[in-house]
Amino acid sequence: MLWKLPYLAAAAVMPYTASAQFATAAMMRFQCSRLVVERVDPLVTPGMVQSPHIHQIVGGNSFNATMTPVDYDPSEESTCTTCDYSEDFSNYWTANLYFKARNGTYKRVKQMVNLGLQGTEGMTVYYIPPYDGKTTVTSFKPGFRMLVGDSALRTSAGQQKQLCHRCYTNVQQTPFGGAPCVDGSGMDTAQLPPGGCDGGIRATITFPTCWDGVNLDSPDHKSHVAYPASGSFESTGPCPSTHPVRLPQVMYEVMWDTREFNDKSTWPEDGSQPFVYSMNDETGYGWHGDYLFGWKGDALQRGLDARCFGNACTALETQRPEDSMACTKKQTVPEDVDGWLEELPSMVM
Ligand SMILES: *[C@@H]1O[C@H](CO)[C@@H](O)[C@H](O)[C@H]1NC(C)=O
Ligand SMILES: *[C@@H]1O[C@H](CO)[C@@H](O)[C@H](O)[C@H]1NC(C)=O
Repeated sequence: MLWKLPYLAAAAVMPYTASAQFATAAMMRFQCSRLVVERVDPLVTPGMVQSPHIHQIVGGNSFNATMTPVDYDPSEESTCTTCDYSEDFSNYWTANLYFKARNGTYKRVKQMVNLGLQGTEGMTVYYIPPYDGKTTVTSFKPGFRMLVGDSALRTSAGQQKQLCHRCYTNVQQTPFGGAPCVDGSGMDTAQLPPGGCDGGIRATITFPTCWDGVNLDSPDHKSHVAYPASGSFESTGPCPSTHPVRLPQVMYEVMWDTREFNDKSTWPEDGSQPFVYSMNDETGYGWHGDYLFGWKGDALQRGLDARCFGNACTALETQRPEDSMACTKKQTVPEDVDGWLEELPSMVM
């Protein structure tokens, strides 16, 4: 999503009122470049080396299989971050996408950098305050983490809200605009698009915005947070009484650069779409993302209170793309993630 276009041009292609607001809200939108691609998941499989499937990970370089809440503070342990906001040592990670060629081999799909941003792979991260411009939100606390999606899901039944894919016909991101994952908009699908996305595939993950105010995590990594009780976050819908604390809305946009695989003669002979997520998911319903808070001190609260917009804001420190791209981390267990592979690394969920 790009909000830097002139408002009228953007609004002209947006059929929904909410979408027009979405394009103008004072949201932080910034690039976090690739930190590492590996099988590590401190949230779902803490301490496990290696975790069941490959993730693409961005953010602070203290990312590790064990990141015990509060004791291990990413903002203290990291020496750099791959994000534009240099006080953000959080870790953000998702499953990775693969292309499965007609001959049965797999190749990792890289991520492209979103319109208006600079970096290497990774994702666009958003922190979105309510659109009314006045409702306040509370920053996450040190040690906070959460998960959206279910890596084992292969049907739409039981899928969380606001996980979706958009099929772009070109790199100018056509069809452009509109809030992501809006039911009935016809622009996004929960499953992987059936094919023919010559400009890449955008995958969105939007996290819940209400917190129980107590727990930094929960056994399923989900039940300490909730979606608004009614209405939408964007319309400042009320949080349920069980989860009264209003959080900023965190959203990931991952721009899968499928252009390398546009030649349909290399696609499956039956015409089915050739992409598969790293947990061996050809449906896309298993799409998921993890968040581990790691902003330094009160930086995120400052940015939210100042209604920071985009990837630069006087209330926050930023760094140049060359600095964020220089921040990388070695794989915990070295393995090939970019060649043609006979099978996905660990074909289990
Ligand atoms: C990183 O995770 C590994 C595996 O659980 C653990 O042995 C190690 O102590 C962790 N490193 C730090 C600095 O906590
Ligand atoms: C499999 O197909 C891909 C795409 O056509 C090609 O680049 C690769 O070299 C092939 N690998 C083998 C082992 O044939």
